[in-house]
Formats: sequence, structure tokens, C-alpha cells
Amino acid sequence: MKIIRANDYADISRKAANILSAQIILKPDCVLGLATGGTPVGAYQQLVEWYNKGDLDFSGVTTVNLDEYRGLPKDHPESYWSFMHRHLFDHVNINPARINLPDGTNPDADAACAQYNQIIHSVGGIDLQLLGLGPNGHIGFNEPGKAFELETHCVDLTEATIEANKRFFDGNEDLVPRQAYTMGIKTIMQARKVLVVANGLAKAKAVKAVVSGPVTPECPGSILQLHPDCTLVADEEALSLL
Ligand code: F6R
Repeated sequence: MKIIRANDYADISRKAANILSAQIILKPDCVLGLATGGTPVGAYQQLVEWYNKGDLDFSGVTTVNLDEYRGLPKDHPESYWSFMHRHLFDHVNINPARINLPDGTNPDADAACAQYNQIIHSVGGIDLQLLGLGPNGHIGFNEPGKAFELETHCVDLTEATIEANKRFFDGNEDLVPRQAYTMGIKTIMQARKVLVVANGLAKAKAVKAVVSGPVTPECPGSILQLHPDCTLVADEEALSLL
């Protein structure tokens, strides 16, 4: 795994946005795997800034997001569909027909997951997958467990993840959905490039486990050690235990 040290959050965001931009410039019809959560927001802002300057063109880009809460309507402010439109899609010239997220409104988990696998296959897989890192080492919503789940599946969010995400739901954990549909580990590992962003002390343990711990489903991100083209962009705090 290649590690890029950044000075601070703004620097992480710029460096990550540079890598994403390079992908779009080199392959204008690329497939970007995108993430929600707090960490990528700065990179999305930077992409929007460069788009506004005329430096980027999203018209040929296809996106597939990592995950979506099960049971939240798309227009709920905390659905990942809303999040992505608020932070990126509404501000660039992406073709709405090329935006893909798991369908959290489909109560039939098997059908929703099979449909999402089919979408990812039909676009030819992912050129560059952006990932945040959960404090427990999760990637997407692949939570620590006994086995790596391969493709899109329905997960029960762990208490740690509900706790970490309640900040988006007025700090009220009762409002956090209990389940999500998430891309699986095999799909993430099949992305041609992976870019992980992490900042702050809260991620230091997870970064250490992902970079130098044993490869184990107890820390799902640790599988990235086996990816042939994975880059981690992180600040000194996140890298402090290495
Ligand atoms: C988001 C996702 C999650 C987050 C992770 C880190 O689509 O799948 O794995 O990337 O929980 O979240 P933040 O960036 O908020 O610390």
C-alpha cells in the first residue's frame, strides 16, 4: 500500500481530489466508486471548485456509491443519495442517468443487492474506488466479522458505527437506521485502483490495523494490503501509531 502523508485535512482533500481528477482526465468515461461520510467532503468541495474553473468535465463519468441506508427515502437529508447530490452531483455536469447507489428504498434486500451487483458488472467494474475508514476498520459498511462478504449485501450496523454516525442524525442514535446495503469486499478489491482517506486521531488505530495488522475480516480494511494499487492519504494524527 502506498502511503501519502498530508499536513492536515485540507491537504488530504487536495491530494485526494488530485488523484480523482487525474482519473477523470485520463479516462473521461471512467467509473468512480464513491464514498459518503465526513472524510471525503473536502475532496468533493475541491472537485467542485476545479469543475467551476473549467478544469474538470464529469459528463462521461459513471459513479457507483459504496452503500446506502436501508429504509430511508431517497430525499431524506441523511440518505446517501441526498448526501452525494448535496456535496457533489448537484454542482457538476454529471449525467443523472450515470449516478448509481444501492436502492435503500427497496425492502427486498436480496433483490436490491442483486440489482446493484448487476449495475456494477454492467458498467464494467470500478476504475477508482474512494474509501473512508471506520474507526473499527470497516470499509463501505463491511463491518468486522467472521468472513469477508463478497458482493453487495445487507448489513446490520454495529453499535460502534451507529455511535459514529449519530452525529448526522441530530446526535440521536435512535434515528440512525439499523441496516444498510453495501458493496462487498470482492467488488472493492476488484476496483482497478483504490484511494483511502483518513484523518485525525480517531482513525489512528484503524489505520495501523489496515496498514500493518494481520489481514483478517475482524478488520475489513486490512484486506487492502493485498490490493495491487491502493493508496492511503492521511494526516500525521491518523498515521501516528504506525
Ligand atoms: C461511507 C462509508 C463508510 C465511511 C466510514 C468513515 O460511504 O461507507 O465506510 O467511509 O464510516 O466515515 P467518516 O469519513 O465519516 O469518518
